[in-house]
Amino acid sequence: MTDPLITAARNAQARAYAPYSNFRVGAALESSDGTVFLGCNVENASYGLTICAERAAVFAAVTAGVTRFRRAVVVSNVDPPAAPCGACRQVLAEFGLDLPIDGVGPKSAVKWRLSDLLPAAFGPEQLR
Ligand code: THU
Repeated sequence: MTDPLITAARNAQARAYAPYSNFRVGAALESSDGTVFLGCNVENASYGLTICAERAAVFAAVTAGVTRFRRAVVVSNVDPPAAPCGACRQVLAEFGLDLPIDGVGPKSAVKWRLSDLLPAAFGPEQLR
């Protein structure tokens, strides 16, 4: 059965701009009302300016006024599937640690929860 959120993330992955690493990543972030926001990694000749797919998706959602999410999918070309990097975990955590995240590779898939990927997270509640 095809999962539309995985298909969406694969379509985003196809648009990755990754001429330096050749590591293409697509992310799909589903909001609590079902709207889907996409991101792909965008590299730069000044390597450190690269943005990951997951953060690109978060920024697209926030730019559209959306900050509540119910699910995320991250697609890459490795098995076992790549999990979000530390920076992306932190940025996702801003909007809720309960988030289920599917990692998808060419041959396998893994399910995580953000709270497991980022234990003892620092977040907005520490600033209240
Ligand atoms: N990358 C992502 O897009 N998401 C991650 O969670 C890990 C890494 C990208 C950044 C860079 O363009 C390439 O993968 C290799 O690090």
